[in-house]
Amino acid sequence: MRVLLLGQGAREHCIAEALNSELYSFMKTRNPGIMKLSKEYVISDLDLKKLGKFAKRINPDFAFIGPEGPLEKGAVDYLKSLEIECFGPTKSLARIETSKAFMRRLMEKYGIDGAPESKVFSSIEGVDEYMRDINDFVVKPDGLTGGKGVKVFGEHLKSIEEALEYSKELLRSHDFVVIEERLDGEEFSLQCVSDGKHLAATIPVQDHKRAYEDDQGPNTGGMGSYSIENHLLPFLKKKDVEKGEKITKDIMKALYKETGEYYKGVLYGGFILTKEGVKLLEYNARFGDPEVMNILPILKNNFAEICSDVVNQDLKKIEFEKKATVCKYVVPEGYPLSPVPGKLDIPETEAKVYYASVDLREDGLYMTRSRAAAFVGIANTIDDAEKIAQNAVEKVRGNVFYRKDIGTEKLLRKRVEHMKKLRR
Ligand code: AMP
Ligand code: GLY
Repeated sequence: MRVLLLGQGAREHCIAEALNSELYSFMKTRNPGIMKLSKEYVISDLDLKKLGKFAKRINPDFAFIGPEGPLEKGAVDYLKSLEIECFGPTKSLARIETSKAFMRRLMEKYGIDGAPESKVFSSIEGVDEYMRDINDFVVKPDGLTGGKGVKVFGEHLKSIEEALEYSKELLRSHDFVVIEERLDGEEFSLQCVSDGKHLAATIPVQDHKRAYEDDQGPNTGGMGSYSIENHLLPFLKKKDVEKGEKITKDIMKALYKETGEYYKGVLYGGFILTKEGVKLLEYNARFGDPEVMNILPILKNNFAEICSDVVNQDLKKIEFEKKATVCKYVVPEGYPLSPVPGKLDIPETEAKVYYASVDLREDGLYMTRSRAAAFVGIANTIDDAEKIAQNAVEKVRGNVFYRKDIGTEKLLRKRVEHMKKLRR
């Protein structure tokens, strides 16, 4: 198949590998991994006209839109107007990710289960009262923030005054701010594929949003993630995963009713298992980064065929090898608050390597200001997968850090204990 891929991160590097097709790429930066896999590539900021021209010349079987930014900018709408099929939702459908207010209202309107107590505000009026009312809450901007916009009361926000200040600040640059009940539990990502009529779930993965070990520090795009060979997580039962799938199916149907358009792409639910059951924190309109790296490398089906089936609305079941995976990101010192760019050297490793925010220059590889490269260990057990990933990140040379604890038995046990304590 002939595929046009948009995006330049580790997620897209992994997608490029899994597509295993005649690949044409459109990237902002020179991702060495994607460059190597591409027959031809364009390095440019996203310019729809430029993208359209490239797409017309190539005439791909479909275009695959990796990140959320181009979805929000209407890349799919534009390519469709040129009669290019796309794996990825239109701008209107992508609001499931780009607007938390839209997502919460959709759940309410169609009576979809699993929504936490929350309220959407377009001005600061009433925010104070609502915060005091629900007592324990989080503050979310209505828009894309790379996973870094949510602040938790009692943790990132020390007082109601500080929470109000943050809400006011958000309202200056966003249409809405969402105040939401703070949920306690264990998070999991369930990335589902939708053709608008059928939904196919993949396996659950757990991401690690906090920058430092033991889940301390600021939120990041995700420092690493794991999946288990039994296709569950240590704290998760089959019925919890099925609940996540059911909510997502309901969302897919509601999106069609609301917009009259079929959702073709990824519906990735960010769920949390609480003592009251599974609740939904957010939807993403694309694969997770890092979570895609836990699923595509162990996919049994042909990935390009899955994408083509989505485009043709003939999606079937998706199957995975019974393997465990651990992904660890190497990030520049100071990330995410004040990252220091610098040189990066990656020696040979047993792990799979996916390049992210790096720039290939004449004298070598340089980190930019975000997550630099991801290392994925794949094995029959999580212990072995963790060792492969850990050995790889330890060998990396450069001014970097990573989370040693991801995928370790100690952290997994802590997650299980946390759930037990909540249920007691
Ligand atoms: P989101 O962008 O909505 O996924 O939020 C990013 C992160 O903030 C989530 O992965 C959670 O760790 C945290 N978060 C979001 N909403 C809540 C909530 N209602 N209660 C507790 N933590 C939350
Ligand atoms: N890992 C979180 C995300 O992709 O949004």
